[in-house]
Amino acid sequence: MRRSKITGMGSYVPPRVVANIDLEKLMDTSDEWITQRTGIKTRHWASDDVGNSDLGLEASNIAIENAGIKKEDIDMIIYATISGDYDFPGTGCFLQAKMELPDIPIFDIKQQCTGFIYALSMADMYVRQGDFKNILIVGAELQSKALDKSTKGRDISVLFGDGAGAVVVSATDINDEKNDPYIYSTHLHTNGQFADKLCCPAPGTALGPERMSQTLIDKGLHFPVMHGKVVFVHAVKKMTETICECLSANNLKMEDIDMFFFHQANMRINDAVGEKLEIPAEKIFNTVQKYGNTTAATIPLGMHDAMKEGKLKEGMLVATAAFGGGFTWGSAIFRL
Ligand code: ACO
Repeated sequence: MRRSKITGMGSYVPPRVVANIDLEKLMDTSDEWITQRTGIKTRHWASDDVGNSDLGLEASNIAIENAGIKKEDIDMIIYATISGDYDFPGTGCFLQAKMELPDIPIFDIKQQCTGFIYALSMADMYVRQGDFKNILIVGAELQSKALDKSTKGRDISVLFGDGAGAVVVSATDINDEKNDPYIYSTHLHTNGQFADKLCCPAPGTALGPERMSQTLIDKGLHFPVMHGKVVFVHAVKKMTETICECLSANNLKMEDIDMFFFHQANMRINDAVGEKLEIPAEKIFNTVQKYGNTTAATIPLGMHDAMKEGKLKEGMLVATAAFGGGFTWGSAIFRL
């Protein structure tokens, strides 16, 4: 039976580390407030001369090497980001040029913090359908250039960081459904009724005569807007629900899963999900404390870190779930 499996992982964060105390110099905040509310201690910020696809390229090169293939073996790229190089074209086009790859198709998807799960689902479908053999998924964000770093934007700007994660999804023939490595299933959801609860309005064509103007900038509409408490409550509820949905679809129990990778927005969100589902803390791999929220990158970035630390190994059954703007949410289970 033809299925898809994750064959390679890579990640990259820019070298500059920004600690909570560094943010105290830019805005009225404190290490204590950020740590208590979010668990975040540091995040990485890229330098001025670096763009999103530069981060994506570093992660992609590592993932391709880790998969044991040549870059020419990649037959599609799916690039998940909300902080792309340009407004258009998609950042995957810039990555493809930097990788000097031939005329393969590229998707850019904008599913916010759920971007990686959506990309994984698409890659799985394209591989299963038969025409594609090795699909590169990139989740990359350069959030530091898109934040209001004054006190006005402190509720959001302390949360986010820059980084990239990439995986290679390849075709596989499975004989033993219980033990072979493959993607079991993916589950995707959106509720656009909450689109304005976490968004960045500008540039946009719904805002009046021009998609970008000095008036929009003066209003701060080019910065993200978030209703933190609404996001928090929905994130806990929906990530919990979608993990249960994914287990049930595969006739699995919580204890069958070796490791859980949740989107990294806030340690309190992940602690609450873990408590509700009664998951032992050592099975949940968190990186938010050191990278902050890197949106579409958090899950592949965390998986590669766990692999490097020797915690994530071949043969393990992994569950992953994310929630983000849109609202979007989703989950996946796969054996490595
Ligand atoms: N430093 C100091 N004080 C701050 C900061 C800051 N960085 N930001 C806000 N405050 C102040 C507020 O102004 C408020 O002051 P007031 O009481 O005088 O009005 C006070 O702190 C409390 O603010 P709350 O919003 O009530 O704080 P809360 O406990 O809800 O925590 C937080 C805020 C951390 C944003 C929380 O709501 C949260 O994590 N929500 C989830 C949002 C999230 O993770 N978004 C990421 C993107 S979506 C995703 O990835 C899932």
